[in-house]
Amino acid sequence: MLDKQSGDEQIFLKNCWYVAAWDHELLDGKKLERTILEKSLVLFRGESGAYVALNNRCPHRGAPLSMGRIEGDCIRCMYHGMKFDALGNCIQIPGQERIPGSMTVHSYPVEERNHLVWIWMGDPALADPDLIVDYAPLGEPEWRGLPGYLHYKASWLLIVDNLSDFTHLAFVHTNTLGGSEEYAYEAKPSVIERLDNGFRVERWHRNSDAPPYHRRVIPDKDAKVDRRNIANMVIPGMFFMETMFAPAGSNDDSLESTRQYRNCQYMTPETRNTTHFFWNYLHNSNIDDPNIAISLRDSLFEGFYEDKDIIEAQQVLLDTDSEFRLRTLEADVGLTHFRQTLRRKIQEENAASPATVY
Ligand code: FES
Ligand SMILES: [Fe+2]
Repeated sequence: MLDKQSGDEQIFLKNCWYVAAWDHELLDGKKLERTILEKSLVLFRGESGAYVALNNRCPHRGAPLSMGRIEGDCIRCMYHGMKFDALGNCIQIPGQERIPGSMTVHSYPVEERNHLVWIWMGDPALADPDLIVDYAPLGEPEWRGLPGYLHYKASWLLIVDNLSDFTHLAFVHTNTLGGSEEYAYEAKPSVIERLDNGFRVERWHRNSDAPPYHRRVIPDKDAKVDRRNIANMVIPGMFFMETMFAPAGSNDDSLESTRQYRNCQYMTPETRNTTHFFWNYLHNSNIDDPNIAISLRDSLFEGFYEDKDIIEAQQVLLDTDSEFRLRTLEADVGLTHFRQTLRRKIQEENAASPATVY
């Protein structure tokens, strides 16, 4: 059933896959109430193992289905007992034979890939699982990491901005992920490639101290390193980064003497001004030592709380003055391209089906 809602057509891209949850959030029959693109949803794993995502609002009197009871792959509203199948059809009304056609809830396509649960908020007929931007290292045995989640009281676009410009590492994360303010002055991007679905950036920082998060997990803590980051920002808000640390001056393109990380981050709008932020920071050395993954996850939490502090404060201030226009520096070429591309895709989507909001 279409659930019409006006006023948000211009904000979100709908016909694409978003990360809705880590699979561990739905373990053991847990019902997860989560708002995505300003829709309250209930997510759960049915007893067959199938993932189910339904509009959370019972069509009878509007009670949350997230307070309901899972029965097989169905859910029963625990107010007056109506039961809905995985497709959102009402299949039982206690004390009533006739089931009116209006008693349905919207069912959202869901897919699991490498521990991430993906959801399609747009037209279900267009939900092609091949469009999921799967991140292979999450499923590869040579990479280890721990999944993370943070809730932001800020627009996902401000987090995209943050991740798009590495100069913030120098100032926001001097003592955690960055390592020094010098990073902002000396580590210029060597490549920024504009892509149809986002952008790619490559950045070197040579002959520098290892940043604290890396230092904590390596034996030779004082050796100078060359650091290379290659990052991809992908519409509607996904970030993938390869980080390599090589001994300073080694010019080691074979990467044999390097330490490497693989990092994925997903910004899923909860509302226009709040965001679900999922990530995993993976490493491939000493993978049998669980303390490395724990140390990296703790370091990343530390760093992301620094981002969260400044971004949420930025959102509060931006909310006080709708007239203020964000300005750009040369380093903002990637994020500017991202915002323009996203805006164009949203306009194209709205032109194709202007009134359809699921
Ligand atoms: S509100 Fe759900 S059955 Fe009445
Ligand atoms: Fe950051």
